[in-house]
Amino acid sequence: MDVLTALDRKADYSKTQLQFILAAWIASTAFEKKSKISTTDGDVSEDDYDKQSLYSLLYALYRSVGNVPSETGASYEFTFNTWGCAWPKTWGPCPTQANDPQRFGKNAYAGLYQFAEVKDYVAARKGKVHVVEMGCGTGAGANYVCTTVLPECTYEALDMQYAAIQTARRKHVPGLGGRLVATCVDATKADIKDSVADFVAVNETHVTEMPGVITDEDRRFFKTAQRMLKPGGHIVWGNAIPEATWKPCFDYLESIGMKVREVRDVTKEAVQARDEDKKRIDIFVDHCLRTFHGFKIPYYGAKRRVEAEIALKNFARNPGTRLYDNMVDGTDTYKVVLVEKPAGASA
Ligand SMILES: C[S@@+](CC[C@H](N)C(=O)[O-])C[C@H]1O[C@@H](n2cnc3c(N)ncnc32)[C@H](O)[C@@H]1O
Repeated sequence: MDVLTALDRKADYSKTQLQFILAAWIASTAFEKKSKISTTDGDVSEDDYDKQSLYSLLYALYRSVGNVPSETGASYEFTFNTWGCAWPKTWGPCPTQANDPQRFGKNAYAGLYQFAEVKDYVAARKGKVHVVEMGCGTGAGANYVCTTVLPECTYEALDMQYAAIQTARRKHVPGLGGRLVATCVDATKADIKDSVADFVAVNETHVTEMPGVITDEDRRFFKTAQRMLKPGGHIVWGNAIPEATWKPCFDYLESIGMKVREVRDVTKEAVQARDEDKKRIDIFVDHCLRTFHGFKIPYYGAKRRVEAEIALKNFARNPGTRLYDNMVDGTDTYKVVLVEKPAGASA
């Protein structure tokens, strides 16, 4: 069993099923020539994993583990699958509390709507705007935006992972009185009409990852965002991706008639967030590993435990991992970007 490639995005694995899946992964150690996960820095080569399998595992894991303590002892469910950033001073008062375990994720979502142009657009419509999010994860950010950032908006949250959408429907949709709809779909194939969205939100969605190039999937992704936007509407996009990939993305967006209006680099604040979040991530990863009995099996269990620990920490860009180092040395940069579909443009 290879958990990096074999899991199904349409499944919502129970804790018992995960116990068996991880036990099978541990058993497969005996037949593996070389581990796919670097035990030095958690790196996994792009060719060695499938994003659908990876997120299927992660969302089932987050739900199975349930409520966990943060580094301050606050109990929370891990729902923001977001690196996020510390709040830049130039953006004004910070919207989140210093003791909120998922404050960096919330900052990331609030930051998407921090542009003056966005504020004017929202104010002109008395807050009644419609958001479509491509790659919403558990809907934690959608919920935060609906309750706090755009309290008059309606919101359609899309993610390809069924387990994540189930968490959105359990935790976030019921409290919003019909304003939030969560749908399990590949966002590039979503059955959403043309020109309906004031904003298409893209927050750390796992696209535009290939260094220096824009892939066919990335093109489809942006083309869909453009199609769904009203003329005059905006893509609000934040992520840490290879620095070399931003320009090919901007060039493509301009080539299809979109206008890149503002680009804000928050890499320094994103590194700060990972530094300040380290203790919480360490506690969370330890909690995950203790939940699954297979990791207690001598030798192979212990070997896989080391791999799982560093891989989970790398995925969180924890200090001491490859993805953290990539942000520190500028290989990856975190930017928040505003892209307009000019008024008068057609779908
Ligand atoms: C790092 S997570 C971020 C999730 C969420 N935005 C957050 O900040 O918590 C990346 C997400 O992108 C989703 N994703 C990647 N490609 C997608 C696509 N084509 N359609 C829908 N979701 C996609 C994954 O399923 C995953 O949930």
